[in-house]
Amino acid sequence: MSGRPRVGLIGCGRIGQVHLRNLLAHPEKCEFAALVDSNRGSIETIASAYRLDRASTDVALIFDDPTIDAVVIASSTETHAAYIEAAAGSGKSAFTEKPIALDLDSTDRALAAVERAGTRLQVGFQRRFDSGYAQAREAIESGELGAVEMIRDAMRDPSPPPKEYLAKSGGLFRDMSIHNFDCVRWLKGEDPVEVFAVGSALTSDDVRDVDDIDTSIVTMRFADGSLACIENSRRSGFGYDVRTEIFGSNGALMVGDSRETPVRRYDRLGVHEDHQFFFLERFAGAYEAEMVSFLDAVATDTEVAVTGADGRTALALAEAAERSRKSGLPVPFGSPAVERAGPDSQRMTIRA
Ligand SMILES: NC(=O)c1ccc[n+]([C@@H]2O[C@H](COP(=O)([O-])OP(=O)(O)OC[C@H]3O[C@@H](n4cnc5c(N)ncnc54)[C@H](O)[C@@H]3O)[C@@H](O)[C@H]2O)c1
Repeated sequence: MSGRPRVGLIGCGRIGQVHLRNLLAHPEKCEFAALVDSNRGSIETIASAYRLDRASTDVALIFDDPTIDAVVIASSTETHAAYIEAAAGSGKSAFTEKPIALDLDSTDRALAAVERAGTRLQVGFQRRFDSGYAQAREAIESGELGAVEMIRDAMRDPSPPPKEYLAKSGGLFRDMSIHNFDCVRWLKGEDPVEVFAVGSALTSDDVRDVDDIDTSIVTMRFADGSLACIENSRRSGFGYDVRTEIFGSNGALMVGDSRETPVRRYDRLGVHEDHQFFFLERFAGAYEAEMVSFLDAVATDTEVAVTGADGRTALALAEAAERSRKSGLPVPFGSPAVERAGPDSQRMTIRA
């Protein structure tokens, strides 16, 4: 296409509002065309706050409008796959929040629809657009760190999301660790060959009630024997916590947590810094950069930076972790296909 794409947004909850602000902040990159959310109260509140004249609870407002070029999908997880298919079916490119779907079959149907339509699909792994993670990736690619022997990637949320969100989230690995799975495979530049996971429910009755976990460790082994460890928690008493250490044969690099202001105070009680309390603040710049990247890809007919295949592999890793946690056994993971009898004689198939 030529010119600025006309973009519709589905979902104006926590992350949908971030995307809305970023779309509206870049009139040079896109024309905001319509907002849809199934919750009438939310749509009325947000449409009035942002003075949007085209807003509805009906997705036909976007999918039936041939002048809309692209759609941003930020509704609840279980809706993503159907909206990706609808976007492809109406010839629109799509940006979807993670995960693409709650299972690999639905993911494959959505990706097949995009493939058939020849449209674009970008997945919302915003860490790739964070300046800290981008520098880490550069240090790996340039060889500065030498051979990467270990990656430790921790991410903890201030507190668990509401029970209604948890019930529909697909569980900790698909909902939260999926960012870590994508980040580690992107940094490392390859997929692991084995996944082992343990997890517990320690932080809230809500998590136990929906039969989920909130605290987990996933270890991954790569073909050359190098290792990665992912740690997640739904609760962190001091606020959002994201820390990644890449340990290579030449040195190490730490992408640390961030300060709101570049100030450190020293007094009799110790040394104090402020701290970005939530992921919306920590990754504000990354959310904006990923959206600009998507808009540029649509406008210039070029490949998106984070593909449907990336989204699928991260989900496959989440599924491998879930199987490992439930079986108590390491799960082989391979590309393009791994099929093996597990030590418990169950056949396990995880396709990357
Ligand atoms: N990339 C990230 O860092 C990040 C952060 C948060 C959430 N997410 C993802 O974004 C999605 C939304 O999460 P959230 O935290 O904003 O949730 P949320 O519950 O705050 O918002 C979801 C919104 O979707 C709307 N909705 C639900 N079903 C719908 C439907 N069928 N059609 C249209 N609208 C519908 C709801 O009314 C609500 O306004 C989830 O898939 C989540 O995994 C990603």
